[in-house]
Amino acid sequence: MLTIGVDIGGTKVAAGVVDHDGQILDKVKYPTPADDPGGLAAVVARAVGELRERRSGKGEDVRAVGVGVAGFVDEDRATVQVAVNLGLRNEPLRERLEGLVGLPVVIENDANAAAWAEARFGAGRGSDHLVCITLGTGIGGGLVMDGRLHRGRFGVAAEVGHYRVVPHGRRCPCGNQGCWEQYASGRALVAEGRERARTDPRGAERMLKLAEGDAEGISGHVITQAALEGDAAALDCFRTVGEWAGAGMADLAAILDPECFVVGGGVSDAGAVLLEPIRDSFARHVPGRPNRRPAEIRLAELGGEAGIAGAGDLARH
Ligand code: BGC
Ligand code: NA
Ligand code: ZN
Repeated sequence: MLTIGVDIGGTKVAAGVVDHDGQILDKVKYPTPADDPGGLAAVVARAVGELRERRSGKGEDVRAVGVGVAGFVDEDRATVQVAVNLGLRNEPLRERLEGLVGLPVVIENDANAAAWAEARFGAGRGSDHLVCITLGTGIGGGLVMDGRLHRGRFGVAAEVGHYRVVPHGRRCPCGNQGCWEQYASGRALVAEGRERARTDPRGAERMLKLAEGDAEGISGHVITQAALEGDAAALDCFRTVGEWAGAGMADLAAILDPECFVVGGGVSDAGAVLLEPIRDSFARHVPGRPNRRPAEIRLAELGGEAGIAGAGDLARH
């Protein structure tokens, strides 16, 4: 049986046809319409329609749609209560989409979907206790405990991006201050790179060059590329973000005691340049060190496809 998995992120809507092994057989991508819930549902419906049509050309049927969305999703897996980075509030996404596509639809948090995919088909295979952290526009979290996705009573467990790491810290669009995602997300990485370019243009020369001389043009890709070339300022940006990420994970380990953390999201495309400072920071912060058995920290294996594969697989069950 085939399903369609959709990943709604801050910048793009990616959809794919998913088989029972989590393989993605076909894929389409569209930009995310900003602050336009009706438009967003229409884009998802269009992507689903396109993929279905191509399958039916091969005589294959799609049975259900799973949608991972970057926001708080209620326990009925129907409504997006709030998605701070997408500008959605109280959005009845399942109802809207079922009306448009005529298939059963399940809505899930994007990081929960990614965690599920990594646990079933990726870096967490074989582990019944894992925490997946996605570092992208924001920070997402997904918990697999005793082999099951843990949603909490009201559907919104593992909203780790909004746990407070700094009292009275940086403001977050969620309304609070000091949220983890203001320090260890892709956005935080970019803010770090731009600030360095403004305050120390000589040190940040390589990043500035890649951004055609404009500090505001420094993106996650630019910082990643410079870091992979060995540029000291870019590596330092990853160290700063990795330090925050690892310390936050150490706090999470105090509460959740997972067997492993899987680190995904766009920032994780940098690989070891990110992972090393995370591991180092985690080791320096985890409570009970050095005697406690520490969780392993692994890089996600499914990259940008985890959300699609996970949402598609969750729609099947
Ligand atoms: C949202 C989460 C989401 C995460 C990653 C956070 O700001 O609150 O729901 O999983 O970003 O996209
Ligand atoms: Na989550
Ligand atoms: Zn917040």
